[in-house]
Amino acid sequence: MKRKLIATLLSATMAASLLAGCGGGSGSSSEAASGAPASSAAEASSPAEASTPAESSGAEESAASDAGTAGGGGKIGISMPTQSLERWNRDGSYLDEQFKAAGYETVLTYSDNDSGRQVNDIQNMLADGVDLLVVAAIDGEALNTAMDEAAEANVPVIAYDRLIMNDAVSYYVSFDNYTVGKLQGEFVESQLDLKNAGDKTYNIEFTAGDPADNNAGYFYNGAVDVLQPYIDAGTLHVVSGQTDFDTVATAQWNTDTALERAQNVLSSYYADGTQLDVWVCSNDSTALGVAQAVTSDYAGDNDVLITGQDGDEANLKNIVDGIQTMTVYKNVSNESIVTLALAQAMMNGETIDESLIPSFGIECAFDTESYETSEGNKCPSFLLVPSVITKDNLQDLVDTGLYTMGDDGYLAAAQ
Ligand code: GAL
Repeated sequence: MKRKLIATLLSATMAASLLAGCGGGSGSSSEAASGAPASSAAEASSPAEASTPAESSGAEESAASDAGTAGGGGKIGISMPTQSLERWNRDGSYLDEQFKAAGYETVLTYSDNDSGRQVNDIQNMLADGVDLLVVAAIDGEALNTAMDEAAEANVPVIAYDRLIMNDAVSYYVSFDNYTVGKLQGEFVESQLDLKNAGDKTYNIEFTAGDPADNNAGYFYNGAVDVLQPYIDAGTLHVVSGQTDFDTVATAQWNTDTALERAQNVLSSYYADGTQLDVWVCSNDSTALGVAQAVTSDYAGDNDVLITGQDGDEANLKNIVDGIQTMTVYKNVSNESIVTLALAQAMMNGETIDESLIPSFGIECAFDTESYETSEGNKCPSFLLVPSVITKDNLQDLVDTGLYTMGDDGYLAAAQ
């Protein structure tokens, strides 16, 4: 009886600890997380064994391997947006592998870029008794039903890569999204030596990401903030005049959508032989569409500087072939390692703040200011560091061990 009471109290304290973070109201994660007992939340809160299997289509459920059961225990729901973009396949499998190796059971779903389906997938995970959710949102504003249910069930949520606009989110793990865009802008600035351009002028166009993705604005603003002074000075000329985020945005980061808009811009503004110098694309899937349009529909024969983000295989090939100029690389294997370490710290009731970072062994910042899940509700975030990849440093990717380089010089994801 007494034991049961203690267990209940522990469970309540643990729930408070786990659910603290963005929606905690104080914004101070350490305050929120301290004082929790050093026991496994999974043990305290969930009868994973008694749960029903996930109903969601495409849900992969799997038990942890025997090898890694030490230190783990419990079930983790991993909800990814889509398999149609390369990076999310990598994220999903790294997260799945990491959590399994640490002794957790996992349920991994992809929701085919359909937010209704993602809500449903998460609801199924909750019904299945998951102890913690890792969610990369399709639409950061469209998960309220699932998030509210997670909060009711005391299941903590880590917003993975993309922030979710709901206070049920405890913590956010991502890259420094503004810096991603800033690196793209700075790359253009240095490649064209804009600081010393004098009277020289260059023509530029922009393609941004999905307005439903909270990251997209950060990427775009990061790039534009670097380049705006040159636009204002007339050094950079946006020939189409299209600089408004909503006009240059690409629903679902879709390659064909980006391709179509690029074709329209080229035929409307460049068919007369106007030279195009730069096309800033927020990520690789959109850069793929723009590069295709430039290759097939652009009349000029100069090299067009095209930016990207992610290090997708097709884009790395384009970089080798001189069709895309750079990509901002984000090591999503590291992102999954940080996510696992954070989840474990949460479940062990540890203080969640920058003191955790040395244990990650990965460069990142603890940021309690930049992101909000609702007005005034800051979301404590661990932000990893992105880097620039060009033709000249592709070897850096091979050195991560995550890519191999074939005899043809093209990179492929290491198996
Ligand atoms: C963003 C993500 C990028 C890119 C894009 C398209 O949220 O941070 O790395 O992959 O989505 O999926």
